[in-house]
Amino acid sequence: MPLRATAEDTRLQLLRRLADARAQTDALFLLIRREAFYERPIPERHRLIFYLGHLEVFDWNMIGRFTFQLDLLDEGLERLLAFGIDPVDGNLPTDQPSDWPRVEEVEAFNRRLRAALDARLHGENWDDPRWAYLGDGFITQVAIEHRLMHVETMGYLLSQLRRDHKHSRNLRLDTSDRQPTPRQIEIPAGPARLGQMRNGTRAFGWDNEFEEHTVEVPAFSIGAYPVTNREFLQFLDAGGYQQRNLWRDADWEWKEKAGLQHPHFWVCRNDGWMWRAMFEEVPLPPAWPVYVSHAEATAYARWKGMKLPSEAQWHRAAYGTPSGTERDYPWGDEPPTPTRGNFDCLRWDPTPVDAHPTGASAFGVHDLLGNGWEWTSTPFAPFPGFETFPFYPGYSADFFDGKHYVMKGGSAATAAALLRRPFRNWFQPHYPYVYATFRLVED
Ligand code: AVJ
Ligand code: FE
Repeated sequence: MPLRATAEDTRLQLLRRLADARAQTDALFLLIRREAFYERPIPERHRLIFYLGHLEVFDWNMIGRFTFQLDLLDEGLERLLAFGIDPVDGNLPTDQPSDWPRVEEVEAFNRRLRAALDARLHGENWDDPRWAYLGDGFITQVAIEHRLMHVETMGYLLSQLRRDHKHSRNLRLDTSDRQPTPRQIEIPAGPARLGQMRNGTRAFGWDNEFEEHTVEVPAFSIGAYPVTNREFLQFLDAGGYQQRNLWRDADWEWKEKAGLQHPHFWVCRNDGWMWRAMFEEVPLPPAWPVYVSHAEATAYARWKGMKLPSEAQWHRAAYGTPSGTERDYPWGDEPPTPTRGNFDCLRWDPTPVDAHPTGASAFGVHDLLGNGWEWTSTPFAPFPGFETFPFYPGYSADFFDGKHYVMKGGSAATAAALLRRPFRNWFQPHYPYVYATFRLVED
């Protein structure tokens, strides 16, 4: 009896979380004006219309098709909406708006998919051995977390969408001009426990989070805060974008070809630098973390004679303690709440890097979770013991090409569920659109 009650609790909780995540993405799509669904705010990514259908088709593929082994409902639409794109350098997509179905058509298809899926999710016995990955809630978490990750995708796409293409909100931004003193924090040599155990106690993890293993990290120092707009402006004023020796070959080539001369979130106006916030341009907030590509972050680090942290260094600075144990979160083992950092979609834009002192790590490193993902110097690669998910073999493996880098932390648009210690994000080094910042280390 008690066992069944627990399983039923879990099932109801997951259905609730799926409903909440759906409500969140439904609300996001309402921010887009109808005629703007065929815009492509980021040249490397799909048009917005893709994402409208992708979330439902993904859930359908994982739960309807893979788990319940249901038949295709519409082969053409399902193929069109199954996967996003992430081209590395150069080849941009060339599809036309007329290659895509009408908004109403996608919405009608979404309703069909949701209804068919919910009939099964609510009607079937999750413990039936025929339904692989359903009984322990795993496949439902795949759907929920995929949707939550796309909340962030939609966020940074909407950041790039022209203002007259979205329904504006009037938000209060914290642009105060305070001066957190940049300083390095000494982290003594010690362990970083990366990843998670396949048969551990955590409820869920993506394929790239397994297996758990410990890395010994030599002593280093790390920035107490991410690099701010104020600091990065000094690099720009010193001609950092023109100094060939600061840039790796491929980075320089990309920067030249793209004509990039400043962070993509910065806009040059008559009165000076502005920041491209979600619904308005604001004078460059000096205390906000700078958002840049891995290429720009690496050039800045060279200019300072420093480096980006490795994944293990970042992990140790965030979760390690002087005694050698690890915390679940930088601040301790309590779950994330709004005082700990700028995450979970409480706002769209950054806050000053010192705005959440109660989120600091045991070593006194600030602003680790939220307010911008943080680039590491570690190429995205499998941990020892990595295995693909049979229902989604390419989730991570498609990106183990040495051309993507691990990011840790999270941004304002990162759901609290994704702030678990082993979670790893990744992007290619020449992608300036994500909510991504960095901090520096010295070995
Ligand atoms: C893990 C954020 C890099 O957006 O490309 C969404 C997540 N994968 N759908 C991405 C993802 C497939 C992925 N990132
Ligand atoms: Fe996706």
